[in-house]
Amino acid sequence: MNNSFEIKQIEDFARKNLGAHDSGHDWWHLERVRNNAFQIMEAEGSGDPVIIEIAALLHDIGDSKFKDKEAEDTAELLHRFLTSLELDEKVIEEVIFINRNLSYSKGKKPESMSVEFMIVQDADRLDAIGAIGIARAFNYGGFVNNPIFDPTGTDHSTVSHFYDKLLKLKDLMNTETGRKLADERHRFLELWLEQFYHEWEFGNRL
Ligand code: ADP
Ligand code: NI
Repeated sequence: MNNSFEIKQIEDFARKNLGAHDSGHDWWHLERVRNNAFQIMEAEGSGDPVIIEIAALLHDIGDSKFKDKEAEDTAELLHRFLTSLELDEKVIEEVIFINRNLSYSKGKKPESMSVEFMIVQDADRLDAIGAIGIARAFNYGGFVNNPIFDPTGTDHSTVSHFYDKLLKLKDLMNTETGRKLADERHRFLELWLEQFYHEWEFGNRL
């Protein structure tokens, strides 16, 4: 099997199946998750690079938030596609497992996680925090027309999403390297919130 040829096909498949997502879930999210995942893999010195790369590229296919596509349909689509590339059944199963179970919004943690699962999940979570995470959050909030902030506390605001999810991610990291990378990005979330509240109060006093 020729790896670089396959990866090109998988990239094309990932691009084609992004669907009509918000632009926080575009091709560049997949590129960033792949890069984060490789960085973690190298620092940790473990994980199968083939599974990690394919799982990173395909982790958001069929995201239930955007499409009402059943998980079964997605698994079948992925299975058909990956089998056509003549990948090992073991690789295919793991990639599909990661696709099905990775998402924060699915809320439940699988009973056992492979090192590849842990790395790709950390890589995806890193992209939800720090400067990029903030950009993605406000992009998503704009996409669904949520308020940026509501000082009265009724809350579907994007700032409330920081408390619902973003500020929790640092402590949910699976790997030591993921935790280290998350630390810096977490501090930036806090710094950003501090400045945001500072400006908001100042504006109110005018
Ligand atoms: P996951 O793929 O881990 O389930 P989501 O699909 O829930 O993650 O979120 C993808 C991106 O959209 C993340 O950057 C996340 O912070 C952002 N996002 C999700 N829900 C909201 C929300 N209610 N307000 C702002 N951003 C959101
Ligand atoms: Ni993702």
